[in-house]
Amino acid sequence: MGSLLPPLLCSLLVSTLFGTSHALDPPRKGLDGGWTAIEDLKDPHVREIAVSKHNKLEKTNLTLRKVEGGESQMVAGMNYRLVLEVLTVGGWTPIKNISDPDVGEIAEFAVAEHNHEASTNLTLCKVVKGDTQEVAGINYKLVLEAKDGGVGVVSEYEAVVWEKTWEHFRKLTSFELLETH
Ligand SMILES: *[C@@H]1O[C@H](CO)[C@@H](O)[C@H](O)[C@H]1NC(C)=O
Ligand SMILES: *[C@@H]1O[C@H](CO)[C@@H](O)[C@H](O)[C@H]1NC(C)=O
Ligand SMILES: *[C@@H]1O[C@H](CO)[C@@H](O)[C@H](O)[C@H]1NC(C)=O
Repeated sequence: MGSLLPPLLCSLLVSTLFGTSHALDPPRKGLDGGWTAIEDLKDPHVREIAVSKHNKLEKTNLTLRKVEGGESQMVAGMNYRLVLEVLTVGGWTPIKNISDPDVGEIAEFAVAEHNHEASTNLTLCKVVKGDTQEVAGINYKLVLEAKDGGVGVVSEYEAVVWEKTWEHFRKLTSFELLETH
């Protein structure tokens, strides 16, 4: 699943002493108070701090792609301020209420988009279940029942839709037949 998603650029502040971590803010520019640029961004220690510490503290499941930039600050311990490219994997949460109109809208979108892409004639019957995952927006993974207009066969499909509401962006990333009833 991870490979389908675009990497995220984020900034992370980690303190080795206190185990604090503030993350996933958009990267900030500029140096202040005693920060020194990190020269070797491939340093395994920096890579280790970059994500594993954050995952542990915040119970996230990010995979580090690349450390884009970073600064460190000697305090009691060491502060790291890093700009990272990360991938999110796993972390699916079941949708509590699949009757939610937003979920129905995503399912309708998935079917319409699939009809458009694959020249099929499916009609949504119902959403069976679904999960969501946060990734620069929300990924919806829905199991849905749809009827083939031509032959009238009802089948179960799994559709994945990536949505960024604030950008009015929606994309069908996969649509697969699970089983035919
Ligand atoms: C994190 O992702 C891995 C796959 O890379 C998955 O096996 C694991 O279950 C995930 N953990 C959580 C807590 O989501
Ligand atoms: C689920 O959502 C529907 C539509 O918004 C609502 O009518 C229903 O009460 C909700 N059910 C629960 C258990 O929240
Ligand atoms: C699509 O299905 C509908 C019935 O659901 C039917 O009326 C229509 O002719 C079908 N269109 C195509 C192109 O098969």
